[in-house]
Amino acid sequence: AAVTVAPSLLLSPLIPGRLRETFPPRGEAKSHSEGRRQLNIGGFGSLEAPLRQEHRREAQTCLMAGATMRAVIVTDFPAVGTFADKFELAEVPRPDASSLKKKEVLVRVAATTVNVDDIHVGQGSFGGGVGFLQVKAPTKTKPLICGSDFAGVVEAIGPSVSSVKVGDRVCGMNFLPLKHQQGTFCEYVVAAEANCNLYPAASLSFAEAASLVMPTFVTSAMVKDAALPPPAVADNDAAGADKGAAPLRCLVIGASGGIGSTLVQLLRAQGTHLHIVGVCSGRNEQLARKCGCDAVCDYTKGSWGDQLSTGGAPKFDRVFDLLGGKESYEEALKVLAHKSARFVTATGPEQWLGSRMLTTGEVFGLLGSVLWHSAVCNFLPGKHPTYSFVTPTDLTKESIQAVVSAGVRPAIDREVRFEEGPLREAFKLVQSHRAQGKVVVNVWDGV
Ligand SMILES: NC(=O)c1ccc[n+]([C@@H]2O[C@H](COP(=O)([O-])OP(=O)(O)OC[C@H]3O[C@@H](n4cnc5c(N)ncnc54)[C@H](OP(=O)(O)O)[C@@H]3O)[C@@H](O)[C@H]2O)c1
Repeated sequence: AAVTVAPSLLLSPLIPGRLRETFPPRGEAKSHSEGRRQLNIGGFGSLEAPLRQEHRREAQTCLMAGATMRAVIVTDFPAVGTFADKFELAEVPRPDASSLKKKEVLVRVAATTVNVDDIHVGQGSFGGGVGFLQVKAPTKTKPLICGSDFAGVVEAIGPSVSSVKVGDRVCGMNFLPLKHQQGTFCEYVVAAEANCNLYPAASLSFAEAASLVMPTFVTSAMVKDAALPPPAVADNDAAGADKGAAPLRCLVIGASGGIGSTLVQLLRAQGTHLHIVGVCSGRNEQLARKCGCDAVCDYTKGSWGDQLSTGGAPKFDRVFDLLGGKESYEEALKVLAHKSARFVTATGPEQWLGSRMLTTGEVFGLLGSVLWHSAVCNFLPGKHPTYSFVTPTDLTKESIQAVVSAGVRPAIDREVRFEEGPLREAFKLVQSHRAQGKVVVNVWDGV
């Protein structure tokens, strides 16, 4: 069995080494060095940072030995909060189709999106900086390519790949922490076959497909953990008591964000037996309503827990938390209803987990809090909501298909070009947590 490649790659020579994580030996890089800034990499080779657009294009179309691609990299973990200013858009060796492992796929990336956790991974603060969650510290000779989702076209497949073929449009996610897969802010990515999902290409653009990857991954798990009753029994609480025609009340904290805007649509698709209230700032009320919120609470006007619990307002059956932190949970307790209510968080006891480095004591505090709520309180008798910190495990073509079939379309704040200036702005926007939906990076137009 042999690797199958797209016609465009047939000229590509058989370069030893898979992704060539180390940079080429000194001599090999020379042919690409003219007119470009050379980064000092201490005698192991040359990592080239292009200075001019034409050189980038030249490299992109180069299929000769030592072909390169553009990638967003860091050669050192920048200080927390400085990723947007410190990353580089550089030429790196392109993954080599001839060296794909049996179940690997080479994808030409058309679009990727900026997730807040991509920034956290790139600055070594993912999960608050807990050691075992970090990728290996990047160096000048082994830089880290950041990014985790992609939509694009299959360029080549390994000998045992059967679920996709060359030319298919696929989307998926690479896991940098723990699985140490290749980052996706680049022109070509090697992905495991299991992480390459066919999607309904007729109804989704590359930008839309990429925008659904992370939200589908997270929200499918959140909806599952919420154990929503089907419409027929939604009017009864867990004890079976008749609640009349009262709908199941759901609250989404962060309803206008990259993930929240998809979650609201997914909940809306469950049926009208859900009454959905979103928490976001007033400027995003229209977006949240368009996604399916019946009402919106503006957190900039004061505690949302107080706003939603005054005057005998009805309580909520489910709270979906995309903000995190002790305060978020305490606010939720003000509005959650009976003991069968559920609190489902994607961020846990630390607000915007990953946006700062935690001390060892804080890490233990955080783990203790999660264990206390999910492994102890959940089993204690008494009236308290079920606590769930979602840890999504799978993104499958079935889950993407289910989200698309439910009529979910990603809210996209903006699409930016794969160039340094627009990328810096995109990272800053996502880091501010004020994006209106997803921020897409168009790497290639797919024509
Ligand atoms: N568990 C997992 O596997 C997993 C995976 C991916 C992501 N996550 C986490 O999920 C979270 C959400 O990600 P995202 O990409 O959707 O974030 P995002 O795009 O930054 O969205 C932020 C949302 O929160 C709202 N918001 C901002 N400040 C707020 C405040 N003080 N109180 C209430 N709402 C506030 C924003 O509304 P305005 O814009 O109107 O202010 C917006 O709706 C992140 O913390 C991320 O780390 C977890």
